[in-house]
Amino acid sequence: TLKIDATKKGASIDDSMYGVFFEDINRAADGGLYAELVQNRSFEYDPADNASYHGLTSWAPHSGTVDVADDTGRMNERNRRYLKLGLPAGVINSGYNSGIAVQSGQRYDFSVWARTDQASTPLTAAVTDPAGTPLGDPVKIQVRGDGWTRYTGTVRAQKTSTTGRLLVTGGGAGTLRLDMISLLPQDTFKGHGLRRDLAEKIAALKPGFVRFPGGCLVNTGSHYGYDAPNFERRRSYQWKDTIGPVEQRATNWNFWGYNQSYGLGYFEYFQFSEDVGAMPLPVVPALVTGCGQNRVTDDPALLARHVQDTLDLIEFANGPADSTWGRKRAEMGHPKPFKLTHLAVGNEENLPDEFMARFTKFRDAINAKYPDITVVSNSGPDDTGGTFDRLWQLNKQAGVKMIDEHYYNSPSWFLENNNRYDSYDRNGPKVFLGEYASQDNRYFNALSEAAFMTGLERNADVVKLASYAPLLANEDYVQWRPDMIWFNNHASWGSASYEMQKLFMTNVGDHVVPSTASATPSTQAPITGAIGLSTWATAATYDDVNVTSAAGQALFSDDFSGTDAQWTKSGRGAWNVVNGAYVQSDAAAEDTLVTAGDKSWRDYTLNLKATKQAGR
Ligand code: AHR
Repeated sequence: TLKIDATKKGASIDDSMYGVFFEDINRAADGGLYAELVQNRSFEYDPADNASYHGLTSWAPHSGTVDVADDTGRMNERNRRYLKLGLPAGVINSGYNSGIAVQSGQRYDFSVWARTDQASTPLTAAVTDPAGTPLGDPVKIQVRGDGWTRYTGTVRAQKTSTTGRLLVTGGGAGTLRLDMISLLPQDTFKGHGLRRDLAEKIAALKPGFVRFPGGCLVNTGSHYGYDAPNFERRRSYQWKDTIGPVEQRATNWNFWGYNQSYGLGYFEYFQFSEDVGAMPLPVVPALVTGCGQNRVTDDPALLARHVQDTLDLIEFANGPADSTWGRKRAEMGHPKPFKLTHLAVGNEENLPDEFMARFTKFRDAINAKYPDITVVSNSGPDDTGGTFDRLWQLNKQAGVKMIDEHYYNSPSWFLENNNRYDSYDRNGPKVFLGEYASQDNRYFNALSEAAFMTGLERNADVVKLASYAPLLANEDYVQWRPDMIWFNNHASWGSASYEMQKLFMTNVGDHVVPSTASATPSTQAPITGAIGLSTWATAATYDDVNVTSAAGQALFSDDFSGTDAQWTKSGRGAWNVVNGAYVQSDAAAEDTLVTAGDKSWRDYTLNLKATKQAGR
């Protein structure tokens, strides 16, 4: 029975309530939203980042002498390596997924930085099929002089292909040096260099905000420190590394284990937010490493520098075009401010006291100069070991305005926690639910999330912002699932959760209409449950599991024998093979599940024989 009282008004719901969280995870940026078709365009892939990488990752020699050089002949200090061809010679790039996807009739901008030790060297760039047959007219360029110079041309595809290659060859004799070999479709979202189908799917959500660039990505310093000596590589995500001409931007080994180009950088994030009518919400590193790592950077000078960088970021977004950082924004093509109002410091911090000591330094410096900026704190990873409670307590004491909460749970958790925010302090910090998802991409997951979101709306006076996570996943480079939008090099498709989010996001109400519902619980058949597990860094063994009813009644013993319960692989057995999880029986003939520790949520099914029946 549903009772609705249309004469009363509940909480107001802000237009910006539902947004998106973009993180460069699952190759969401390079090979994804960033439309660049060439992988490893600047030859910076490094085995030190990922054992399978080398300078020619995604490239293959075609002819002649092909080397990746790292010497004083480089283009600039941030772009360390370049391609050195002993002529005549050539190389082939195979892009992402099955190759470079081109569409008949579409135009593609080719560009390259080059220098030659000859008076003039002919360079040809052609998009071909895997057998080398051209898919359009090649670009022909004469490289002149031994100084780094940018050359451009346009390829018009005459055939459609999802397995294209970019073949770049130099003729004559001598040495040709190349860098930043790029192929970008002319047809991008609003002409701003982002892949149209993906950007349109995000825009169709009508997001109220865009949170970026991470997530744990922001904490890359957790691996190698915040200012790693290895030039610009392996740093925490620092916004100043990501702006200006692309050939002068660093590349970085990111938290998720792959090289990111920063072609999609802070300017592009701000511009994309504006293009989809959303409020930008950047996250900067707090110099304490969250995301399961427990390292603290204890360097006052470094902290002061990061605080200043954050002030500079606000000037970059909002400052007048003649201010130091506002000028850089204007030079990149956007003299008008980007209207930044919210900014988060830190992500999933698991050292509450150390984090808060640093957060307040950021917050106080920001609000001293920009009192209207809401500086968002966080509540750590999902409630583990008291971190969540301690962070909430410290945040409240510090008068923090908004706290970022994250959780990834089972569908039943979402169904059972619809009332999570009913009891939150109305006078305390507001909630930014920056990341949440139920642990799969099935219809039932979307349904459980939808049920939960009615609880967010009912509490819209406390929960001010909410975003499902992660947003994007390239199906061939997955670190985390479930995800909202999936894609490969030529197609994209929304999950059930995407369609559900779209319903909520494109129908944001003005205020809550109070209602109550009552129902008779049905009895439940014996259970087959899915359990989502995520283990960080090391493998974990799951054995003793307690299964209770919603009311806490024990339904199963916590010591399964081989016949009582059995861990089975989920429907997607390939995950388990790829990620190395396996099922074993221990000496006492019990079943245990050993996970691979690959930082991803994986689905495992635990088949149980019920011994009692409960209402839910
Ligand atoms: O959304 C994926 C990851 O989940 C984010 O990077 C992190 O904040 C959380 O642990």
